[in-house]
Amino acid sequence: MTPRPTIIDCDPGTDDAIALWLALASPELDVQLVTAVGGNVGLAHTLPNAAAIVALAGKRIPVVAGADRPLLGRFIDAAHVHGDNGLGGLILPSGPPPQAGLASDAIRARLREAAPRSVTLIGLGPATNLGLVFATEPELADRVAEIVLMTGAVGEGNATPAAEFNAWNDPEALAIVLACGAPVALATLDVTNQALCTPDHIAQLRAAGGGATADAAARIWQAVKFSRRSGGLGHEQHDACAVAWAVAPHLFRHATVLAEVDCGPGIGRGRTAVDRWHRSGRGSPATLLETVDAAGFFALLIPRLAALP
Ligand code: RIB
Ligand code: CA
Repeated sequence: MTPRPTIIDCDPGTDDAIALWLALASPELDVQLVTAVGGNVGLAHTLPNAAAIVALAGKRIPVVAGADRPLLGRFIDAAHVHGDNGLGGLILPSGPPPQAGLASDAIRARLREAAPRSVTLIGLGPATNLGLVFATEPELADRVAEIVLMTGAVGEGNATPAAEFNAWNDPEALAIVLACGAPVALATLDVTNQALCTPDHIAQLRAAGGGATADAAARIWQAVKFSRRSGGLGHEQHDACAVAWAVAPHLFRHATVLAEVDCGPGIGRGRTAVDRWHRSGRGSPATLLETVDAAGFFALLIPRLAALP
């Protein structure tokens, strides 16, 4: 199996940290670039967090700064969920300085050099950086094997009743990415809320041993409040679901849908409209992840976290 050349755009972010570590521990992926975007917390934190997360896993992968605000809307963070530093208060050893330049330029440079349909893009935050790539060089979509996004909600949102946080933060960028022509897979709240981290999973991770990364992951899991949406049963591993699709798609049931996002100013802003029955004639084709085998998900995630340095 040839590892998939992969670029990860993220806003770490407690669940982004877990997702990045899963990606870095997965032989199915060749993570070649990590880019940061403002989201859960400002870029001033997400950028050094991304560098620290990659370094803790013992990897030397370029990390590049991206947008610190959406294309059009105002920047709204989720520090109330992820803590002021974005990692639930956990302080990681600093990683190396970021690579100079801008995320969208770094992504485009790699896509220009890539073979057709060869690069996997995994988007774990507001889609601003990815939107800029395809707004400025749309033809690069043909270098993309798949874009996997943690974004959107078919049912209730988590940022507003209508919208999930990443989509709500930059719906215009998401609209560009959904329509770019590359295959898109969506890990919405409807599937990520099936991957709930509970105290039992934290105990399993502790029992699995591992090094500093597993310890940091356990500390992050212990720091994050259980969500009301889950009835207090645990906290959703939103971003790791997107990575799990890229490394273990057999864990998911999925459907091909038409998807679009509401870019209006009203209460529906950031709402992802999913047409399962293709009757609206609107939106772009996307693979909607509908269910995940939660036991299989954690059976994949926990040993891989424990295998990192
Ligand atoms: O709504 C959940 C998503 O928003 C996750 O990616 C989380 O990290 C935040 O970015
Ligand atoms: Ca995220």
